[in-house]
Amino acid sequence: MRGRRSTALGPEGAMGMPRRRGNGPLNRPLNGLLNGLLNGLLKGLMALAGLLSTVSAATAAGPSAFSMMSPQLQAMQRDDSLNPGMLWVLDGQARWSRAEGTAGKACADCHGTTPAERLRGVAAAYPAWDAATGRPINLGERIAACRNSHQGVREPSAPDALLALEAAVAHASRGQPVTPPEDPRLLPWRARGQALWQQRIGQLDLSCAQCHDERVGRRLGGSLIPPGNAAGYPTYRLEWQALGSLQRRIRNCNTGVRAEPWMPGSDELRALEVYMAWRERGLPVEAPAVRP
Ligand code: HEC
Ligand code: HEC
Repeated sequence: MRGRRSTALGPEGAMGMPRRRGNGPLNRPLNGLLNGLLNGLLKGLMALAGLLSTVSAATAAGPSAFSMMSPQLQAMQRDDSLNPGMLWVLDGQARWSRAEGTAGKACADCHGTTPAERLRGVAAAYPAWDAATGRPINLGERIAACRNSHQGVREPSAPDALLALEAAVAHASRGQPVTPPEDPRLLPWRARGQALWQQRIGQLDLSCAQCHDERVGRRLGGSLIPPGNAAGYPTYRLEWQALGSLQRRIRNCNTGVRAEPWMPGSDELRALEVYMAWRERGLPVEAPAVRP
């Protein structure tokens, strides 16, 4: 798999973090990175300026990991006939009109003949507040709730089906600006997510912000550090040879700093997702993105 990637994509084949898990080479650039962080007040102020410019640029439209990718990889994302993520979208669109569960209902029975017909833009406004559970839920959880309560399907019996449906619904919002709901009940979650984003974790003692705000565009081993946006998820990752969720991606970054990964569906991931949507508000939905 490794050989196939590097033949097809050249140097980008080396960009997957988890591949270096447990290897020495990760430490060298990180030592440099940490020294850089300790380089006095001036550098600190420069990092802050960098952070501010990252946030304002992200709100305007970029930078995105997309703009940092090779032309081949960009073409793969742009062209639906080359984008492997479209296989999941097509599967999700087929499932959309299929009656399922004890209620024998299809998504289409309640939400229109295609996801784009009535749910366009909806994915751009998740995570949203869920009154039933009294907490924020992401798009995948929202769809799982519909399958459960409206179709009578028992999850997680079919995680693949759920991911495909999520891809189809997210794809229906492609190009729409990320628009986090202005619901005051989300505010404490956003604050908690922001604190987590800035909290140093793992044996490498690094925060999300130290890479994704302060070191965007720099190299970490063979990888370019992207802004860490969520708008392309679910994303097809060459490293995975599959479509995967944002939570899976974040857990990869947990492992990258040798931290205990947060559990799927944990409050930590929930809070982070709320904060990340706010941090990248205005960026266009890219799902399904293609990433190294
Ligand atoms: C040591 C630096 C580092 C830290 C710390 C880090 N990441 Fe990452 N992250 C990366 C790199 C490098 C990539 C890209 C990997 C690749 O290209 O394969 C990445 C990718 C991502 C992506 C995918 C972006 C996209 O456009 O597809 C997200 C989302 C993300 N990280 C979130 C987080 C979160 C949340 C945290 C904190 C819990 C975090 N990261 C901590 C280095 C880091
Ligand atoms: C029997 C009708 C019914 C079926 C079948 C159904 N839903 Fe829903 N869906 C609803 C209702 C009603 C809501 C509003 C929230 C609630 O009351 O559960 C909703 C909400 C949603 C939302 C959030 C919309 C928003 O504006 O935030 C999404 C996304 C969604 N459904 C996707 C799906 C998908 C995908 C399927 C098929 C797997 C599906 N639903 C099946 C009735 C249905």
